[in-house]
Amino acid sequence: MKIIAGNWKMNGTAAQLDEMIAAVSKVATRARVILCVPYTLLRAGGANIMIAAQNVSKFDAGAHTGDVSAAQVRATGATATLVGHSEARAALGDTNADVAMRAQNAINNDLMPIICVGETDTERDLGTGVDVVRRGVRESVPQNAKNSEFIIAYEPRWAIGRGITPTAQQIMDMHKIIRETLDEMGFDNTPVLYGASVTAQNVRDIINIKNVDGVLVGGASLKKQDFIPIIENAE
Ligand code: PGA
Repeated sequence: MKIIAGNWKMNGTAAQLDEMIAAVSKVATRARVILCVPYTLLRAGGANIMIAAQNVSKFDAGAHTGDVSAAQVRATGATATLVGHSEARAALGDTNADVAMRAQNAINNDLMPIICVGETDTERDLGTGVDVVRRGVRESVPQNAKNSEFIIAYEPRWAIGRGITPTAQQIMDMHKIIRETLDEMGFDNTPVLYGASVTAQNVRDIINIKNVDGVLVGGASLKKQDFIPIIENAE
């Protein structure tokens, strides 16, 4: 089963989310659809859509003004969360260890973490991109995680939000490395999503690349007329 995840980032209203859930419910798809929305929109999903947060706290509760815990996210009915998205890593100064704490809190509270890893253009140009991604997986997955408790999303940071799409070969090479890393860690059925500049036009080619189990879609997940064709074309 392929996974189509949307990331609304800091966009959207409750009315737009209702509309999107209604539109997705009409699509006959075998894919699992996940929509990552701002905290204010969190709620239970529908028959064929999971609602997810875009981050959860490293902490359980207490004096952390502005932060939101995994338990609080789960209490809204949402069932998953992004952790370690490159924008959140940059804004919050997260290390891989911080991301692992967030992911562990998600797992402890029955939320499926989508753990994001990726390399910057500088790292890629320096030739350290593969190492960064390998370390991202090794260090951002919590020590005690079990198979099937989390999802990995590979996001080339040099492509996100810039309309740049890596070549199929670049995606295939990095997904192979991620798959090998997960295998070495003892995870043999963790889904690995690709995310950056996915559109209705390129989704079919991308999702059929070896070791790509789904996509994480930013900009093109905001409007029904963009997101629904992505779900349809992913089949
Ligand atoms: P994009 O964003 O699809 O707009 O490139 C991807 C992401 O940040 O998840």
